[in-house]
Amino acid sequence: MKKIYEGKTKDVFDLENGNYLLKFKDDVTGVDGVFDPGANEVGLRIEGAGKAGLKLTKFFFEKINNAGIATHYVDCNIDESNMTVLPARVFGEGVEVICRYRAVGSFLRRYGKYVKEATPLDAYVEVTLKDDDRNDPLITDDALDMLGILTKEEYATLVSMTKKIGAIVKEELAKKELELYDIKFEFGRVGEDAHIALIDEISGGNMRAYKNGEYVEPLTLEKMMLS
Ligand SMILES: Nc1ncnc2c1ncn2[C@@H]1O[C@H](COP(=O)(O)OP(=O)(O)OP(=O)(O)O)[C@@H](O)[C@H]1O
Ligand SMILES: [Mg+2]
Repeated sequence: MKKIYEGKTKDVFDLENGNYLLKFKDDVTGVDGVFDPGANEVGLRIEGAGKAGLKLTKFFFEKINNAGIATHYVDCNIDESNMTVLPARVFGEGVEVICRYRAVGSFLRRYGKYVKEATPLDAYVEVTLKDDDRNDPLITDDALDMLGILTKEEYATLVSMTKKIGAIVKEELAKKELELYDIKFEFGRVGEDAHIALIDEISGGNMRAYKNGEYVEPLTLEKMMLS
């Protein structure tokens, strides 16, 4: 088993059978010891965060697979904090796709002149580049096409898959009286046919969930969702 990437919150290994193994760590992103799902640095270590993230990821990926949406998910081992996935080729050096249901986070920082905090947004989709040095800039479909990162057709597929997956997560949260404000996904091309599949993880660290207008921390979210 060869380590091929050391990420901020997960390490990636190449398995002999051609699949990848994602090892979930207890590191979480944030700034000055305060958790922030949008942050680009590891801000703190929380005991149990890796397993909690993996349990939620398993929960959501199984739902999404069952809905007939392509993902990289193969199986997972909670005790070992790891998950086996199909290897994907990412778009360019990686993009993130955000689905927004209420104005918070970077949307509010960007457009605060025109929108109040927590204003409802109708599953609004945005794409950002994974580029820590440039703070993950927002990018348009025209620029993605022009720079050879994504075709217009692939962009449309991403938007449509994102809305479907977001709706599944939102509905699952609603069953526990939680409201999804925003969520971030990653996609890649999988298999010989290079079909677009959901990759990476879906955990508290990728979304903002609220209960009665109060933000719910990732570990609390995991407990609320899975108990
Ligand atoms: N099926 C897959 N095939 C290839 N790469 C994947 C797959 N699933 C996830 N990845 C990549 O594995 C890495 C996991 O590491 P981690 O989540 O720590 O991310 P990161 O890139 O360091 O930081 P961040 O996600 O916060 O921007 C990410 O780069 C992610 O894009
Ligand atoms: Mg990540």
